[in-house]
Amino acid sequence: MSGRRAGDAPLVLGIETSCDETGVGLVRGGVLLADTLASSVDEHARYGGVIPEIAARAHLEAMVPTVDRALSQAGLRHRDVDAVAVTAGPGLAGALLVGVAAAKAYALALGVPLHGVHHLAAHVAVDTLEHGPLPGPSIALLVSGGHSSLLLVPDLARGEVNSLGATVDDAAGEAYDKVARLLGMPFPGGPPIDRAARDGSPTIPFPRAKAADGTFDFSFSGLKTAVARWVEARGRAGEPVPVADVAASFQEAVVDVLTAKSVAACRAHGVDTLVVGGGVAANSRLRALAEARCEAAGITLRVPRPGLCTDNGAMVAALGSLQVEAGVPPSPLDIPASSTLPF
Ligand code: KG4
Ligand code: ZN
Repeated sequence: MSGRRAGDAPLVLGIETSCDETGVGLVRGGVLLADTLASSVDEHARYGGVIPEIAARAHLEAMVPTVDRALSQAGLRHRDVDAVAVTAGPGLAGALLVGVAAAKAYALALGVPLHGVHHLAAHVAVDTLEHGPLPGPSIALLVSGGHSSLLLVPDLARGEVNSLGATVDDAAGEAYDKVARLLGMPFPGGPPIDRAARDGSPTIPFPRAKAADGTFDFSFSGLKTAVARWVEARGRAGEPVPVADVAASFQEAVVDVLTAKSVAACRAHGVDTLVVGGGVAANSRLRALAEARCEAAGITLRVPRPGLCTDNGAMVAALGSLQVEAGVPPSPLDIPASSTLPF
């Protein structure tokens, strides 16, 4: 925060609507003042995945009340806001549109600049709220229901973020959700698998796709199919499914590849800081294995608390705040919402 006190810095309102959470955050000078959330996750649960139209409608209903709650949580008023930041993409097109339209309306009505930000860069930026400025360059592993990405981050505020690899099929969280469904667990599947795995042993040798292919890409759909075949075979043989062991073995296959590739990316780029974010970063085994492997490799691991790992408005406000402080020019008021926004 370049020597200034947080009290002098601009107040940034952040709006996140890329998936099923309407998130609003207020950040001033790297300090989180409010973080409010309205989630439509319960409305999607019976479909086993997020339905874009339901998410967009829920954002529309939740937007103004969620902004108002954030302001009242921080004891501030609309006119205290100095800049508005919003996720411009990537994400669900209709969901993004609601957030971008709302952000434009707030920016225009309040006469303040608008900053369209990248969703994945915001996932990285949220860590600065807890652990301070990010040393550049850093490597980020972002794993959620919509993405599994390894990024090289030379300068977050200036938008210098390079993709090193991504999933070629299912995202890590999506694989958790699908495997949970086949084990009869509720959506979202990450938390129940995480819990079940604690009582099991990772003894079933599920495949580690792309583990040693030299790229930083991931693939999880083969693993999901392998789990499905294994469970079916037990059923055909009339034997009970050892749910805890299946959960632990599936989870070990996922986190083994995620952590091995993250450490390899740090080594390949001579980087000694790894940030892990996204909903799957809440996973207890991923955290433990990442800690062990980073320690062995001399890498500093930074993982935000679980509430900041999942989609939220604080992350958008955090990145907006970094941009405003770095003097990054605002976005034009006709900035589009882009479901496939590149870096
Ligand atoms: O970041 P997020 O809230 O939303 C997006 O998808 O962008 O991530 C949600 C994903 C879901 O797939 C959920 O199953 C997964 O994060 N997740 C977890 C855990 N908690 C949430 N996966 C593994 N272990 C967890 N403890
Ligand atoms: Zn996300």
